[in-house]
Amino acid sequence: MSQPTISTVLDDIARQFAQADLYFGHGTETPEDEAFYLVFTVCQLAFDSQAQVYEQVVEADELARIDHIAAQRIQTRKPMAYLLNEAWFAGLPFYVDERVLIPRSPIAELIHQHFEPWVDSSQVKHVLDLCTGSGCIGIATAMLMPEVSVVAGDISPEALAVAQINVERYALQARVKLVKSDVFSHIEGKFDIILSNPPYVDAANIADMPLEYNHEPVDLALASGNDGLDCTRKILTQAAEHLTDNGVLIVEVGHSQEALIAAYPNLPFTWLEFEFGGDGVFLLNKAALLEVCIQ
Ligand SMILES: C[S@@+](CC[C@H](N)C(=O)[O-])C[C@H]1O[C@@H](n2cnc3c(N)ncnc32)[C@H](O)[C@@H]1O
Repeated sequence: MSQPTISTVLDDIARQFAQADLYFGHGTETPEDEAFYLVFTVCQLAFDSQAQVYEQVVEADELARIDHIAAQRIQTRKPMAYLLNEAWFAGLPFYVDERVLIPRSPIAELIHQHFEPWVDSSQVKHVLDLCTGSGCIGIATAMLMPEVSVVAGDISPEALAVAQINVERYALQARVKLVKSDVFSHIEGKFDIILSNPPYVDAANIADMPLEYNHEPVDLALASGNDGLDCTRKILTQAAEHLTDNGVLIVEVGHSQEALIAAYPNLPFTWLEFEFGGDGVFLLNKAALLEVCIQ
């Protein structure tokens, strides 16, 4: 039997994924996307390869690995990023495993824009990434803004161990400092930008998530109290004292946006818009945080 090509393997895997009861949303959106992600990663092909690679032969060992991972994906419902130990964020690959959330925040788009027009990026020197998980937001900021130094905090030592792998992968030990911290508890200094993608899923949604999410660290990375705002409340109460005078706070709260607006009717949130999808990310400057008494 002739060896299959990339094209035939892609078709076969996409068909298997389409027939299985899978949920997509951890970096891919369709069975075809997910097959592409698997096959191109295992065959070590660039995602923007020329069309002729589709006629390339898949070697027997690669095919065995692809089939094995595809079967695991279908049987266990584990997200592909965990099976491949790799997730892409802001155009960069990150090591991931089940100790961290799979990176997917729309904040990536802001990093690509160096946070313009919300800040004068030439003045940005110190950035804080709260609830850093894999380190993706802080590390991508350091990679795309070479003048910036980053402090990246997380309450979970397991998550920080993964973030450390990624800091070393990008040789950023001199510019990205990892800190074990309950929100701001062990954070020192003031920052030009505070970024956070904290846990923000409310209790009703936690009970109703597709099986794929149960492979993520649900209690720490997703759940945040009844209304999903426990962690965000802590961030709001303490952010001002860690911002420089022109500093801004940027936080993702996803579908908890409405609950947040209801909880803080006097806070002048700016809700950011994204060209490549995603919402529920707000910006507040220091003055706004100081004006309103936040409890
Ligand atoms: C939604 S995940 C985001 C991870 C990463 N920033 C990303 O965008 O992929 C939230 C992270 O917050 C951390 N976390 C939860 N509660 C925390 C707290 N009180 N203080 C600091 N980090 C916390 C979790 O360990 C988890 O890594």
